[in-house]
Amino acid sequence: MKLSLNKSFVSLLACVIPSHAITLLQVLQSYSELTTLSSYVNASSNATALLANANNFTFLASSNAAIASFLSKNPNVLTADLLQATLEYSLLRGGYPTLSFSDTPQFVASNLVNSSYANVTGGQTVELLQSSGGAETLSGNKTISTSSSADIVCTGGIIHIIDTVPSIPVSAVSEITAANLEYFVSILNVGGYLNPANAYVNQILEVPDVTYFIPNSAAALANVTEQVKNTSAAELQSTFEYHVVPGFVGYSTLLTNGMQLKTAEGGNLTVTVQGGEMYINAAKVVASDYIVANGVVHVIDK
Ligand SMILES: *[C@@H]1O[C@H](CO)[C@@H](O)[C@H](O)[C@H]1NC(C)=O
Ligand SMILES: *[C@@H]1O[C@H](CO)[C@@H](O)[C@H](O)[C@H]1NC(C)=O
Ligand SMILES: *[C@@H]1O[C@H](CO)[C@@H](O)[C@H](O)[C@H]1NC(C)=O
Ligand SMILES: *[C@@H]1O[C@H](CO)[C@@H](O)[C@H](O)[C@H]1NC(C)=O
Ligand SMILES: *[C@@H]1O[C@H](CO)[C@@H](O)[C@H](O)[C@H]1NC(C)=O
Ligand SMILES: *[C@@H]1O[C@H](CO)[C@@H](O)[C@H](O)[C@H]1NC(C)=O
Ligand SMILES: *[C@@H]1O[C@H](CO)[C@@H](O)[C@H](O)[C@H]1NC(C)=O
Ligand SMILES: *[C@@H]1O[C@H](CO)[C@@H](O)[C@H](O)[C@H]1NC(C)=O
Ligand SMILES: *[C@@H]1O[C@H](CO)[C@@H](O)[C@H](O)[C@H]1NC(C)=O
Repeated sequence: MKLSLNKSFVSLLACVIPSHAITLLQVLQSYSELTTLSSYVNASSNATALLANANNFTFLASSNAAIASFLSKNPNVLTADLLQATLEYSLLRGGYPTLSFSDTPQFVASNLVNSSYANVTGGQTVELLQSSGGAETLSGNKTISTSSSADIVCTGGIIHIIDTVPSIPVSAVSEITAANLEYFVSILNVGGYLNPANAYVNQILEVPDVTYFIPNSAAALANVTEQVKNTSAAELQSTFEYHVVPGFVGYSTLLTNGMQLKTAEGGNLTVTVQGGEMYINAAKVVASDYIVANGVVHVIDK
């Protein structure tokens, strides 16, 4: 009796699960909100292969409205290359159902590893956050994508339909402009850091896996303006390098009280968490977690 029950249970599974299991590509083809994405994917053998072979994933599927809005703001840029990179960035490693989002941010790796777009070991990340607006995904320049239909289960993973196409994070130097860090732009200018002779600046902006602490305040600008009057080029280089931590992508969730971070200059920075604020040495972190092509940028006040 027991054996025959087990047998029929097994045969029930064998017949029910496969007929009900739906693949990622089938979900794209069956949701009316995803017809645009589905036609793009179907037209590209690389995109089809990426999604057909995915396993253990969370896929952020841009809705028809998301793609229409993206195309209206960025005409003529959705080339096959950008489509492929955006799909890689939308395909997160691991399962993240809505219930796993919380008000503590999580930085989750995607399948975007192509060095034309990202130099972050393990794949460029997105930030997952549960806020008053719902389950949010933050991408380049803190672009927020909200899930309209979430937790669609398919073979090997989970799909969230999102209302905004994720932005692939740009280089640190482009993000300085995008985020309007105007005091820092002036600091780069008065410090002579934009001079092509100071090639170390470009090198630092391109190496993989970097954390940048970017001073962006009137006081910091005044300080540098005063300092350049009696500071050598070598000292200015050291100052710049003291704001850069190579070999470590320090999202805010990884920075803990008392942590020492070894800078490109050689000296350490000390992280202090006090009264809900984070300090890097004596400088207060005023904005955190701008994801950039090769790491992360935090903005400080000194
Ligand atoms: C996908 O493209 C093929 C041609 O490459 C076409 O035959 C098929 O109907 C398309 N499927 C969908 C769902 O658009
Ligand atoms: C598509 O795949 C082919 C073969 O792997 C590769 O040569 C080509 O660069 C890929 N194109 C994109 C846009 O990724
Ligand atoms: C990486 O991206 C470049 C530019 O989009 C593209 O030409 C190339 O095919 C991509 N490489 C891979 C392996 O997908
Ligand atoms: C799924 O992916 C996550 C994130 O990469 C990993 O931690 C986990 O071990 C994987 N699970 C399986 C069953 O492979
Ligand atoms: C990644 O690093 C390589 C050199 O290591 C550089 O040529 C490329 O521009 C970098 N990519 C990005 C997106 O910054
Ligand atoms: C980046 O985000 C800021 C703040 O939301 C916005 O003002 C700015 O226009 C954005 N920049 C780009 C290039 O999208
Ligand atoms: C630069 O030198 C002037 C005069 O020697 C001095 O007053 C000023 O404090 C110095 N500034 C810095 C930042 O060292
Ligand atoms: C700098 O920090 C590292 C840990 O990141 C530590 O091993 C080293 O001793 C520190 N150096 C100084 C001079 O404090
Ligand atoms: C001014 O520069 C000095 C020396 O580098 C530094 O100790 C101080 O924190 C700076 N002040 C501000 C407001 O950036």
